[in-house]
Amino acid sequence: MASRKPLIAGNWKMFGRNTDLAEIGVLAETIGPAVDKIDVLVCPPAVLIAPAAWQMRGKSLLVGGQDCSPSAADAAKTGEVSAAMLADVGAKYVIVGHSERRQNHQETDDLVRQKAEAAILAGLVPIVCVGETHAERAAGRVAEIVSRQVKASAPGQGGGTFAVAYEPVWAIGGNSTPTLSEIGDVHSLVRETLTQQFGGQANETRILYGGSVGPKNAGEIFTVEGVDGALVGRASLKASDFAAIILGHPAAV
Ligand code: PGA
Repeated sequence: MASRKPLIAGNWKMFGRNTDLAEIGVLAETIGPAVDKIDVLVCPPAVLIAPAAWQMRGKSLLVGGQDCSPSAADAAKTGEVSAAMLADVGAKYVIVGHSERRQNHQETDDLVRQKAEAAILAGLVPIVCVGETHAERAAGRVAEIVSRQVKASAPGQGGGTFAVAYEPVWAIGGNSTPTLSEIGDVHSLVRETLTQQFGGQANETRILYGGSVGPKNAGEIFTVEGVDGALVGRASLKASDFAAIILGHPAAV
């Protein structure tokens, strides 16, 4: 079995101001040497990426974007931010295909794949988000939806060039998560789907769980076989909560 370095990513969404970047210093101090064993990523809003990267200088924390343009080349695209621009200001990762983008901006699997590919071209690691809605789970369609999303939104290259985040849409921003065995089942389905696409290289792709991860449940979620880390929304905004999640990972000790 491949040994994959855990990745714990914080998605600030459309929250945060310059003054909140101080949380990054507190985070670094609180997690201490755990940062050498776990990739710790903070994805603030686009306008805060450059100052966040500055705040992180000399620390091993990573900064990333929450979205990028599908266009690799500079273009007349008002309002778009390219993956190359994110990389230029210090980003190492970018989230693509988050359900809030898929639902509110009508992003399709194909668009998400183009974004992931543009990210890789720019030297970033895309985190490709997938996950079923409540209605899809109730209809017993989890495997169908998630495997379709993985097949159609993953970039053309496999291995460690990208990561997948399994985020059940109904678990985001609420208080409920799937059971640990349901999380394990979907993670193995994602791994299986990646193996069909990329063969043995699929062992190198990290698969994160996201959706209502907090200091109270992170530790048990990290024990689930096949969970290589987490994508954390609300609980990543406060350094003390995010640090508690990171320190709850078995690799942190
Ligand atoms: P949440 O969000 O942790 O606030 O549920 C997760 C996400 O949307 O990535």
